[in-house]
Amino acid sequence: MRVLVTGAAGFIGSNVVNYLESKSIDTVAFDNFSHSDYRNLLNTNAEIICGDVTDKDFSKNIPKVDAVIHEAAITDTTLADDAKMVRVNYNGFRNIFDFSVEKKIPLVYASSAGVYGKAEKKMSEEQEVTPHNTYAYSKYLCDCWVNKYLQKNKTPPIVGLRYFNVYGPGEAHKKKAASMIFQLYNQMIENKNPRIFKFGQQKRDFIYVKDVARITADAINLDRSVISNVGTGEPRTFKDIISILNKLLKTELKPEYIDNPYSEVYQNYTEADSSKLTKILKTEADYSLEEGIKDYLENYLKK
Ligand SMILES: NC(=O)c1ccc[n+]([C@@H]2O[C@H](COP(=O)([O-])OP(=O)(O)OC[C@H]3O[C@@H](n4cnc5c(N)ncnc54)[C@H](O)[C@@H]3O)[C@@H](O)[C@H]2O)c1
Repeated sequence: MRVLVTGAAGFIGSNVVNYLESKSIDTVAFDNFSHSDYRNLLNTNAEIICGDVTDKDFSKNIPKVDAVIHEAAITDTTLADDAKMVRVNYNGFRNIFDFSVEKKIPLVYASSAGVYGKAEKKMSEEQEVTPHNTYAYSKYLCDCWVNKYLQKNKTPPIVGLRYFNVYGPGEAHKKKAASMIFQLYNQMIENKNPRIFKFGQQKRDFIYVKDVARITADAINLDRSVISNVGTGEPRTFKDIISILNKLLKTELKPEYIDNPYSEVYQNYTEADSSKLTKILKTEADYSLEEGIKDYLENYLKK
C-alpha cells in the first residue's frame, strides 16, 4: 500500500509519515516547503515531491497511491492575507478532494476545532459552528463542501478530522504558531518566568501528536465517511502545563501574566466531544497531558 501525505514536511504531516512507515506502509511526501522543516523528513524513506496543492496539475508527478492524507495548509491563524488563506486551505483542499474522488481512493483531511469559534462547553460535530477568523473559515468551507458533496454523491470514505490543540515533536518551525507546551518549555528552560495570558485559566484540549498521527493514519481504513473531532475530551489549563513542566524540569518558576492581543478571536476554551471518535473511528487518545509532555521533553526537546 502507498499513501500520499500532503503537508508532509510540516508538524503533523511528518508524524503521519513516520507512523505509516512504522507500519510498513509506503508514503509519498508532498509539500511546497513554504512553512516546514526538511529535517522532519530526514529519517524517512518517503518519496519526496515538492509541489503546490493549489496547482491544478499538482498530481502530474505523483505515482499511483491507494489513499490520501491531506495536511497541507497555511496554519498561522494570524496571517492577514485572507485571499491566500482561502486559496491554499480551501482551493488547495478542493484539488486534493477532486484527485481522490477521480482516483476512487479514500481521503482523510485535516479540519480544525477552530471551526467552533468561542465556546464555554464541549464542542460537538452536531452543533452550529461559528468560525472567528479566516483560517477557521477556510476549514469550515472544506467541511461544508464535503457535507454537501456527500448528500448527492457516493464516494470512497472521506474523513474530516477536527484536530484540537496538537503538541509534540516536529513543531519548532511553527514559531509563534507552535503549541503552548513548546512556547512555555522554551521560556522555562532558560529559567525565565513562563508568560501566559491573564490569568492562566484558559482551558484547552491538548492532544499529543503521536495520538493524532496514529488516529489520522488509521482513518484511511475506515469504511464510511465522517467528520469527527480529534481531542482527548479533557481540557487542561495553561497553569497545568506550567506545573507539569516545573515538575519535569525540577524548577519552581511562577507564571507572568500578560494581556492577550488576540482576545477578540482567541479560543479560551476548547473541549472535544469524543463520542464520534470512540464510536465511529473506534479509538481515543492514549497519552494524558502528563505522559505526552514527558515523552516530548525526554525524547525530543532535551535532545
Ligand atoms: N497543529 C495543530 O494544533 C492543528 C490544529 C487543528 C488543525 N490543524 C491542521 O492540521 C494540518 C497540519 O498542521 P500542522 O500543525 O502540521 O502545520 P504545519 O504548518 O507544520 O504544516 C503545514 C504544511 O503544509 C505545507 N504547505 C503550506 N502550503 C502549501 C501548499 N500550497 N502546497 C503544498 N504544501 C503546503 C507547509 O509547507 C507545511 O509543511 C493543517 O491542515 C492544519 O490546519 C493543526
